[in-house]
This record gives sequence, structure tokens and C-alpha cells, in this order.
Amino acid sequence: MSDFLTTIPALRGPVPLSHLLLPSFVHDGKHAVDATCGNGNDTVLLARLVGTSGHVWGFDIQQQALAETGSKLTKAGLDGRVTLLHTGHEELARHLAVPVHAVLFNLGYLPGGDRSVITLPDTTASALEQALQLLAPGGVVMVTVYPGHNGGSDEQAAVEAWAESLNPKIYHSWRMGQANVSETAPYLLLVQKAL
Ligand SMILES: C[S@@+](CC[C@H](N)C(=O)[O-])C[C@H]1O[C@@H](n2cnc3c(N)ncnc32)[C@H](O)[C@@H]1O
Repeated sequence: MSDFLTTIPALRGPVPLSHLLLPSFVHDGKHAVDATCGNGNDTVLLARLVGTSGHVWGFDIQQQALAETGSKLTKAGLDGRVTLLHTGHEELARHLAVPVHAVLFNLGYLPGGDRSVITLPDTTASALEQALQLLAPGGVVMVTVYPGHNGGSDEQAAVEAWAESLNPKIYHSWRMGQANVSETAPYLLLVQKAL
């Protein structure tokens, strides 16, 4: 059995929560997108979940992020399952036309990188809308939102407006945050397209 099914998760923040949930939505042979590759941790998990017959597309605007993601994938023997794209996620629909079961956004800046390069409200909102159009029934968009850094609250407002505007007959829109942390702590938004 794979590590992620046998290890007890430490639910410290939204990222481990998203990793706990993802195997319910992304199975062998499916397609998935990492809209913000960063250091590649989410990309590696998605590549594991889609198996040998599925595929993952990973986006990032920083070469440094794609290099780190590519290196992690190679070490894990998963690079053949992933197409890495050195472009913004606002170009999603230009690169993908197949139905996908998960699109992950981990907003903000690259940990360990240039903190002035951040995801931005307009491009994030555009990418979220494009992600919805690609979702297979039952598929999810997961967004880890970081309100705490400079510019984070503007992006949070854009993402919240999007999540709240969705028709509940077509999308199940969830907000998942820890109760015992500060108001600016990161949290997870999850939108599932109805089955
Ligand atoms: C918080 S990091 C992602 C962390 C990553 N998911 C991981 O597992 O390590 C955010 C990333 O978004 C990237 N980014 C910023 N604007 C972007 C855009 N328009 N399209 C795609 N990626 C973008 C940054 O370069 C940065 O690497």
C-alpha cells in the first residue's frame, strides 16, 4: 500500500488536509493539474495518484520552481506522468482540453524563493474560472489561500467572491479552516462539480 494511505496525517494547516482529501477524487488513469507547482510537493502527490495511465499538467511562472518540481519527479520516477509548463495558470485553457478530476492552487509565494513573486487576484480568478470549465463531474478545484502576506487579503477577497458566487446546484463550495489559529492563517477552499 502507498505511503499516503498508511501514514497518519498531521493536520497542521490546509496542505496536509488537501493531501488527505485528494485520493478520494484522483484515481488511476485520471487527469489532474497543479496550477502552482512551487517546490513540487503537490505535483508529486498528483503524479502518484494518476498512476501510469493518467497524466498531470503543472504550471509555474518561475523556472526555479519548475526545476525543483522536475527534480523531485525524476527522483520519484514519476517524470513521465507530468507535463511541466513554464507559463501562468491563466493560460490553463490554452494547454488543456481534457476533463480533469483535480486542479490544485497553492497561492502566494514560493517557499524559500523570491517573496515578491506572488499569485495575483486577476490571474488567479481567471484561472479558477478556466479550471471549473475543465472539471469532470465529481472533480474538484482545491485552493490553499494565504491571507497573511502583502497582497494576500486582496487575493483572498477575489477567491472568496468566486467561491461564494457558484451555483449550489452545480458546485459544492466548501471553506475549511482551523478554528484555533489566527484569522490570517492559511485555509482551504474546495469546490466540487456535482456528480
Ligand atoms: C505557494 S507556492 C506553491 C507551492 C507548491 N504547490 C508546493 O507543493 O511546493 C506558489 C507558486 O505559485 C507560482 N505562481 C505565481 N504566479 C503564478 C501564475 N500566474 N501561474 C502559475 N504559477 C504562479 C509561484 O512562482 C510559486 O512557485
